Amino acid sequence: MEKGQLLYDGKAKQVYATDKPDEVIMHYKDDATAGDGAKHEQFSGKGVLNHTISGIIFDMLKEAGIKTHLIEKLNDRDDLVKKVKIFPLEVIVRNITTGSFCRRTGCPEGLVLDEPIFEISYKNDEYHDPLINEDHAVAMKLCTREEYATIKQETLKINELLKQFFLAFNLKLVDFKIEFGKTEDGEILLADEISPDSCRLWDVDTNKKYDKDVFRQSTGDLIETYKAVLARMQKK
Ligand code: TYD
Repeated sequence: MEKGQLLYDGKAKQVYATDKPDEVIMHYKDDATAGDGAKHEQFSGKGVLNHTISGIIFDMLKEAGIKTHLIEKLNDRDDLVKKVKIFPLEVIVRNITTGSFCRRTGCPEGLVLDEPIFEISYKNDEYHDPLINEDHAVAMKLCTREEYATIKQETLKINELLKQFFLAFNLKLVDFKIEFGKTEDGEILLADEISPDSCRLWDVDTNKKYDKDVFRQSTGDLIETYKAVLARMQKK
């Protein structure tokens, strides 16, 4: 499958057209950004690591019955995926409090929640991805009420699957962000990626961070951290 026209050039990924109108190629770059783009660096090999990690996770989710955009891996940085229109929503689940939730509410860090918190933000750089609720999303026509219900239901299922998955590698799933898209036929699919860029993962015994917080907070080596996550996932 040849890469066609560049359709989208994002912070960490690019999307290219293919010769099929309903399929595109998603390419993983080496860039990392944080703090609303205030921090931006390149890490040689990051794209390959995230592509590998995300691929393993998407395969696991597919096996468990989650519908995703992934068709096949093409090489160590490129996936062939179904073309979808991405809902302009950052869909977030929190199992343990940290990050923007604590900054916004004053809630203490590290509280283990009795039930997961489901959150959505409106993807809009100009307005810094504001936190919104279901009524806002429906009023702004970002999704319908039915689509919101599907997204929430799928996301909570994905949370349970991911929690179990990471626990097997002695990692706690603290929180994560996912994105959904819609095909021409109206099918809602999990899209984008799931990697240490978009999840917070803490070691079960030590609470050591195995995710992009090492870059956000300059507390560790991003590549070594992501390699350690992959090594745990490959050790069985
Ligand atoms: P959150 O605590 O809302 O944001 P911040 O990183 O500013 O503290 O993040 C919750 C989870 O979602 C965390 O695992 C990081 C992930 N996330 C992204 O991957 N991209 C984003 O744009 C946002 C806002 C969060």
